[in-house]
This record gives sequence, C-alpha cells and structure tokens, in this order.
Amino acid sequence: MTTKEVTPSDVVPGAPGVPYFTPEQPVAAGTFHSWEDGSDKPPPTIFKPLKVGPLTLQNRIGVSPMCMYSAASDAKATPFHLIHYGALATRGPGITFVESTAVSSDGRLSYNDLGIWNDEQAESLKPIVDYAHTQKQFIGIQLGHGGRKSNGQPIYLHLEQAAENNGKLEDVKAPSAIPFRPYGNLPTPKELTKEEIKKIIEDFGDAAKRAVEISGFDAISIHSAHGYLNNEFLSKISNKRTDEYGGSFENRIRFLSEVIDNVKSKIDTKKVAIFVRISAQENSTDPDSWNIEDSKKLADLFIEKGINAVTTSSGGNDYRQPPRSGIKHTEPIHVPLARELKKHVGDKLLVSCVGGLDENVEQTTEFIQNDTFDLALIGRGFLKNPGLVWSGFADKLGVRLYEALQLGWGYWPNKQQITDLIQRTEKEASKEKA
Ligand SMILES: Cc1cc2nc3c(=O)[nH]c(=O)nc-3n(C[C@H](O)[C@H](O)[C@H](O)COP(=O)(O)O)c2cc1C
Repeated sequence: MTTKEVTPSDVVPGAPGVPYFTPEQPVAAGTFHSWEDGSDKPPPTIFKPLKVGPLTLQNRIGVSPMCMYSAASDAKATPFHLIHYGALATRGPGITFVESTAVSSDGRLSYNDLGIWNDEQAESLKPIVDYAHTQKQFIGIQLGHGGRKSNGQPIYLHLEQAAENNGKLEDVKAPSAIPFRPYGNLPTPKELTKEEIKKIIEDFGDAAKRAVEISGFDAISIHSAHGYLNNEFLSKISNKRTDEYGGSFENRIRFLSEVIDNVKSKIDTKKVAIFVRISAQENSTDPDSWNIEDSKKLADLFIEKGINAVTTSSGGNDYRQPPRSGIKHTEPIHVPLARELKKHVGDKLLVSCVGGLDENVEQTTEFIQNDTFDLALIGRGFLKNPGLVWSGFADKLGVRLYEALQLGWGYWPNKQQITDLIQRTEKEASKEKA
C-alpha cells in the first residue's frame, strides 16, 4: 500500500490567487463573532458591516494611509511593503489603505515614496493586494501628487533639508509660485502651465486604472489634504491663479473635480470604491484660508460625482498653523469637523474621520454608534499595534471577533456558524442599502 503524502491543502483548502499556500479564510478576520458575556444583543455598530459603494466592510475601523519611506529608487514596492501591509490586513481592519503613492514621476514627496506612474510599479503592488485578498480583506491605495512639497526628504529628515539633498528641485511645480514656507531650504515651485495641469489630471486617472487593473485594489483614495497638490489648488493661500483654475471657489475646485472625473472614467465604479481625503479646514487664522463651510460645499460636489466617502483631516497647507502637540481636547481633533460634515451630507455620503481615534476606544465606538461619522481611520495606532482591531477595540469592548485561521485561538467558525454568518451579513448589507 502506498502512503499518500498529505499536503497542507488536504487539511484546509489553500486560498486561490497566490502561488503559495495560505489557508482559505472561511470568514474575514475582524468580523463580529459574539459577545464575551454570551449575550445575544446586536453587535456595536463599529462591528457591523458597512457598505462603501460596492464594498461591504466587515467592520468600521480602517488603516489610514501612511508613507513608509521604504520604496526602491524606482518607486516600486519591496518585500517590506508586503510584510507591513500583509501583517495589518491579516488582523482584520475593515479596509487597509496603502500609503500616498505618486501619480507622476515628479510628484513624490520623497525619493523613498511609492509611485504608480508606470505598469511595473503597479505590478510591484500586486502581491500585496493578492495577499490581502487571500485573507478576504479589502485593500485600497491613496493616490497623490506632492505639488510644492514634492521631491523633498522623508519627513524624519525634515522638509528643510530638501534643497541641499536632492537635485530635482527644478521639477517642483504647484498652482502658483509660492513656497510652502518662506524660510528654510524649501523650493519656490514653478507655476504649472495649463498643459501640465491637464497632464497631471490624466496621470491621476491612469494611476487609478493601473491600481485597479494591474494591482487589483478595491478602493482608491484621492489625496486632497495636507497641503499637497490637490489641496494647493483648493486654497486661496496657495492658489493665486487668474485662469479658470484659480480665483472663485468654483475655479479652485475645478482641478479636483476634473481629477475625480478622470479617475471615474478609467475605473469600474461598480467594483471599486472612491474615497477623497480633505483637510476640512486649514487651522489658520488667515481669512483666506479654507474652512469647514468650503468643505461642506465641496462635499456637495462629492455627492454629485458619486464619491463614496470623504475622509476628514485638516491642515498642512499654511506654515503658520500653530503646533497641535500639548493641546488638550475633549474629543479627537477632527471629530467636530467630521460631525459638521456628516450633519451636512446625511446619508448621501459616508464620512470617515482620522486622528487620535484609538486613544479612547469607547468614545470612538460611541461616535460610530450615534452616527457622528461612519468609519474610523487610524494611523499610528496600527503602527504601534497591527492587531488594534482585535486587542485595542474588540477586547476592550467585550467583543469576540473571527480571526484569521493562522492566528485565531478558539473562535474558529464551524459550518453552521459560517452559514448563519453569511446570511446575517447579507441581510445587514441589504438593510444598509435600503
Ligand atoms: C508615518 C506616517 C505617515 C503618514 N503618511 C500619510 C500619507 O501617506 N497620507 C495621508 O493622507 N496621511 C498620512 N499620514 C497621516 C495619517 O494618515 C493620519 O491621518 C494621522 O497619523 C492621524 O491619525 P492617527 O492619530 O490615527 O495617527 C501619515 C502619518 C504618519 C504617522
């Protein structure tokens, strides 16, 4: 009698789509399993599924995009990115966003940033997406252009060192020839010509197409915050143009509006969710600065354009903004802005919030429970603790989650639970849709 060699996939089927074995996940990690106390009350809303356009997230806690300054010199992803984003996705956030990735070769914030202005770069991101999908996890990418903050240094080397440390400062372009700061070694950008503007708009769309068709991402986030190019067009502080891209509110939002149109025309929005991140206010006392009323009007445009979610951040475009460290707030800094935006848009647009939302888990859970905003994006909390959804939120709230088969210790689903769960998830999703 010959003995059959037992392979791992004889025990649990391997997940499709990757050339290596990893167990197929019956249920996405991060999905609500039960209350620790055995109660049958419904899950807290933060652990209910959330429909974001075509995606149904299993919970409402996502990983915010964060530059990792680890790209190869050709702006491709490396094994570092696979390990980093893979570890995050394995532990069950509702969605993980890959860091701001440049749409144009001269739009990287630093030489160590990812880029997606060619197909090879998009190919380099595909293993990360494929891995996330083996875990039944959603993964998005933030697309950006640094504008007048391009071609600098990783932030840990300080923006000021840009001028002395790289030779590409002549390529730094922006809506107007105004440096981010009048002091230090920051470059004075060249004013973009209209042809160059049109080219960058196409670059955004082409990058989105590559991100979806080559890399396979589930969501695109259009970076329009923190004083980078899209934000520079929005604000009177950085945009002094006299053509149709400057001046009135309508003219200043034109660039972003055309970027959105271009992105939408090149991807299948029935399959891919679109987020836009904005600085909802500039944290500046300059009467010319962008404020929450402007953001509400911009949100109306997002509704009209069918954007799925707006992410509320702030600042980054006015060098005079006061330092935020040491300020004590009763609630995290962007919550009042997210609340105002949510009140304004109602059910027509999802609002995600970012900034300090891991510091008081009960409070963040309450914000989601009472519709202050819809989705919590968290940055540094996930860097400190990739298992934040699990140990940071679920454990503190007395909630048990399904975990990846590799990591779970006791809450593996049985067949009946899986059937029940799928039915429950579908019911929830159709309720949310209605
Ligand atoms: C290392 C690091 C890199 C970041 N890079 C980005 C980025 O690429 N795009 C972006 O929109 N925000 C970026 N941010 C901001 C975060 O996404 C987030 O908005 C900020 O850290 C506040 O959230 P937190 O308090 O949960 O960390 C970065 C933050 C950190 C700490």
